[in-house]
Amino acid sequence: MASLQELKQQFLADIGRCSTAADVEAARVKYLGRKGLLTEQMKLIGTLSPDERKAFGRDLNELKNFIGDEIASKGTSLKGQELKKKLATESIDVTLPGSFTPYGSEHPISQTLNEIIDIFTRMGFGVEEGPEVELDHYNFEALNIPKDHPARDMQDTFYISDDSVLRTHTSPVQIRVMEKKKPPLRFIAPGKVYRHDADVSHTPMFHQVEGLMVDTDISFSHLKGVLEEFLHRMFGPDVPVRFRPSFFPFTEPSAEVDIGCKFCGSSVDGACRVCKDTEWIEILGAGMVNPRVFEMAGVDPEKYSGFAFGMGVERIAMLKYSIDDLRLFFENDLRFLRQF
Ligand code: PHE
Repeated sequence: MASLQELKQQFLADIGRCSTAADVEAARVKYLGRKGLLTEQMKLIGTLSPDERKAFGRDLNELKNFIGDEIASKGTSLKGQELKKKLATESIDVTLPGSFTPYGSEHPISQTLNEIIDIFTRMGFGVEEGPEVELDHYNFEALNIPKDHPARDMQDTFYISDDSVLRTHTSPVQIRVMEKKKPPLRFIAPGKVYRHDADVSHTPMFHQVEGLMVDTDISFSHLKGVLEEFLHRMFGPDVPVRFRPSFFPFTEPSAEVDIGCKFCGSSVDGACRVCKDTEWIEILGAGMVNPRVFEMAGVDPEKYSGFAFGMGVERIAMLKYSIDDLRLFFENDLRFLRQF
């Protein structure tokens, strides 16, 4: 009995000294824990006579409840105080202006490229890619451009070595895909191309989108249909489109496609520097795949026919967004880029 009284006094002293929730938890362990002082007293019960046992058990239980209640209320009040303190010291001023992360916009060439890809994939075309450093064989030879062809002139082509170049067009992707996959084929191949003829209207690097469709009965009317549909989706149903006979070593017959110039009449002196007053702007080369090209790529020209086209992305972007100077695309002037 005396020891329970002592225990209670000891507990009251301990709990009085508690100043944090952690202190209270330590006190709980000390008295009520598995090896706590009260738990130890419980074990004594078995050694007592039945009479003693009853009274001792009751007193012990009372003390246990008393300590439990004290600990709970002290714990709650200390936790409340600690929370108040935390809220006071860690408060933030929600009226302060946030930190602003500026974000950029997609380059107009990327936007145009994505739009072209979008239109063709909706027509069922896949997307293929090829290397920018290309073998002479794929860039020229397999496209029926022999060694003495003017397109190979040192003034146009950047040579990496005797047999490799920076590709001058995306047409080599036609060959690479035909070597790997069997017809029917229907894909476009967007990417960067390189030519040495830099002036006001040409840059040494620009973008093209190649297209190829090969199957057993492809005719020139398929080519016309697909390209007209593309141009009308890109520039609106009213844009004037014109097919002109032309020549490419890898297509036969070949055509160049122009669309109406929308810059004409906007310049002060009446002369249009974009179309040079011709009222048309060339944006596409196309034609029926030359049987020689099929043969070199391992496709049977007796069984298959197809059409191919290649378009200049910068030209299309200029017309689409009414940009009259090609160089704006490459100067990265933020005042220009932010408009997109
Ligand atoms: N490769 C040609 C060029 O760069 C374009 C073209 C592609 C023409 C496919 C016909 C067929 O001018």
